[in-house]
Amino acid sequence: MTRPDLPNLTIIEHPLVHHKVTLLRRRETDSTAFRATVEQTATALTYEALRDIPIDPAEVNSPLGKATGWQLPAGRVVFVPILRAGLAMLPGALVMAPNAAVGHIGIRRDETTLAPEQYYARFPSVRPDCVFVVLDPMLATGGSADLALDRLREAGARHTALAVIVAAPEGVHRLLERHPKTRVFAAALDAGLDRRGMIHPGLGDAGDRINDTGAATNP
Ligand code: PRP
Repeated sequence: MTRPDLPNLTIIEHPLVHHKVTLLRRRETDSTAFRATVEQTATALTYEALRDIPIDPAEVNSPLGKATGWQLPAGRVVFVPILRAGLAMLPGALVMAPNAAVGHIGIRRDETTLAPEQYYARFPSVRPDCVFVVLDPMLATGGSADLALDRLREAGARHTALAVIVAAPEGVHRLLERHPKTRVFAAALDAGLDRRGMIHPGLGDAGDRINDTGAATNP
């Protein structure tokens, strides 16, 4: 589904995806189930995000004769999880494109200012025909995704998409302004952000729920 006011956003409308998002929202869902469900949802998101991926013609021999078909060249897709939480989406994304390359970017939000801080980045070499799919379960203010897309653009990426599980309108609007050519794929569009920058109703802090670090203090 797309909305006229958010033309860059596609919301995945599928009963199985709705079921998974609801599981993720439930506060009783433990880390084991949360991780598995994030991974499964990422498979569905990636399927949609790669719907228009350019592929190459190919001829193969079936056991009974020649067949013409298509193939996705290795490395045409590049998945870029935003650490930490996006990492949990990677195995699910690779189900759809196992021959993808993988880049990583580490970004954390300052809990007071909500400004994104990058602490790591490593991308594979960028070819003009590569399609980069940034992975992160949450798009809140949009600061983290905005920064990741800036870094990819600086590295030469021309085709980018963002796959998130839950998006806030604030983040989608920000990306629409800053990266109008980037399409955003989400499993749910929520009401908005609270004063702490958390998505409501959202699914809590995805990074903490995935890693079971809710009660931990940072060193
Ligand atoms: C969360 C989330 C996104 C970001 C979204 O990460 O996984 O990366 O916040 O917020 P934004 O759209 O306002 O930038 P967090 O900074 O908590 O780091 P973590 O993944 O290491 O938990």
